[in-house]
Amino acid sequence: MGGELPMTHPPNFASGTVWTGDNLPVMRGINSGCIDLIYLDPPFNSNEDYAAPIGSRAAGAAFKDTWTLSDIDVYEHGELAERSPAAYAVIDAARQTHGKSMMSYLIMMAVRLIEMRRILKETGSIYLHCDDTAVHYLKLLMDAVFGARNYRNTLIWKRTSAHNSAKKFGRITDKILFYSKTDEATWNKVSQPYDKEYIEKFYRFEDRLGRYRAGDLTGAGLRSGDSGKAWRGENPSSKGRHWAVPMKVLTDEYPNLDLGSLSTQEKLDLLDKAELIHWPKRGTVPSLKRYLDLSKGVPVQELVIDIRPIGSRARERTGYPTQKPVALLDRIISASSNEGDMVFDPFCGCATTLVAADRLNREWAGIDLSPLAVKLVDQRIRDDRGALWGGAIVRDDPPLRTDFGKLPNYRTHRHRLYGEQEGVCLGCDTHFPFKVMEVDHILPRSKGGSDHYENLQLLCTHCNKSKGGKTMAEWLAARGAG
Ligand SMILES: C[S@@+](CC[C@H](N)C(=O)[O-])C[C@H]1O[C@@H](n2cnc3c(N)ncnc32)[C@H](O)[C@@H]1O
Repeated sequence: MGGELPMTHPPNFASGTVWTGDNLPVMRGINSGCIDLIYLDPPFNSNEDYAAPIGSRAAGAAFKDTWTLSDIDVYEHGELAERSPAAYAVIDAARQTHGKSMMSYLIMMAVRLIEMRRILKETGSIYLHCDDTAVHYLKLLMDAVFGARNYRNTLIWKRTSAHNSAKKFGRITDKILFYSKTDEATWNKVSQPYDKEYIEKFYRFEDRLGRYRAGDLTGAGLRSGDSGKAWRGENPSSKGRHWAVPMKVLTDEYPNLDLGSLSTQEKLDLLDKAELIHWPKRGTVPSLKRYLDLSKGVPVQELVIDIRPIGSRARERTGYPTQKPVALLDRIISASSNEGDMVFDPFCGCATTLVAADRLNREWAGIDLSPLAVKLVDQRIRDDRGALWGGAIVRDDPPLRTDFGKLPNYRTHRHRLYGEQEGVCLGCDTHFPFKVMEVDHILPRSKGGSDHYENLQLLCTHCNKSKGGKTMAEWLAARGAG
């Protein structure tokens, strides 16, 4: 399969594109390094069949989630052994400990994850949503493909409040494995509101402007300048401390308050005049009022308990099986991408990722096997943007890669390939004279293959004709079956 092209390239498709069909050939046609963020919520290998309720917006959507080796192209298996020996070793271990279904599932995932890594920018990140059916195997697979050092977190999302599981604890969470491609990955600090318990415990005071907590106005240690002197009869030095007016907090919360050129005591005077000083009972130094309304909350944590599953009457509910809440995607997209970035979901279902990306002014694209998913993408974005929206760009043909630069005509490689293959046809393993050998695309151009040398081989006229428009994988599989 040869080396990768790690550079960043422009996307070779338009924002707002949704493909119907298998995501593997589509991703193979996407330029390397053109995606900023990938979120995928693939089938979990849960041994279940999913179907949307009749009458819901998603009625008709269904997919099965049980894997057998016959679901997997035999060629994918061989390709994996060649492209990622580490991933192959993980899959082999899964076969021994868990059985063939897990092995098949992981092969399906591995070949796709390899493509995802290739199309991610160096600053990109990937979030893989799953549950505990396969999360431990998927973690190893992600380590093999993205590198253990690029692992960031496992988000644990509480997707339901209670579940009766026979002879074991209730399974109520999903897991989301978060990896970045490199250390340079985009990261934005995102906050979540404090929970009720925290507010009760710390925001204990209230005045006419609202609820607040007492923030420090002093720091540890003695100082000899202004900050070590008394103010309004209060001298923090007596407690081994000094005045420390938190300028960053004040500039963030009150950008119009101009404290810059004032002495410590003048700053405190001004804060008091603005009713921002909390005067406690005797014996404690005054503190700064930190209003709940102005607080951004806490930085988001890996345990996600504040995003509730989609209720049966929620407006965003489409009825699509396994639909995820927009708020969950909102958090992921806000943390790991910026406005204008390209967000990509190769198992996009009813478009939750795409809707969230669109609302956050990101570019987006998705793929799903189900034609109904595409209909829902269109419907949901139209509900958001209004009737003037031109609609999703619906495609079923893989894009053609443009990141190789201008390639010479593929036929010019005939001599080189003949030498490399020592005159042997790679279809029937027979030696032929030069003139009966034809240059063939391993992955046809109609299926996302390129004229790049790595996608070329020589076949004899007979084999080339018999292969036709199939991929090498499909042709070999069909021959194996026959
Ligand atoms: C768990 S659902 C995704 C749900 C989605 N996150 C949402 O909020 O609607 C998995 C989706 O993957 C799709 N799918 C399964 N195999 C696929 C493949 N090889 N290529 C593209 N889509 C696939 C299924 O049709 C299904 O819609």
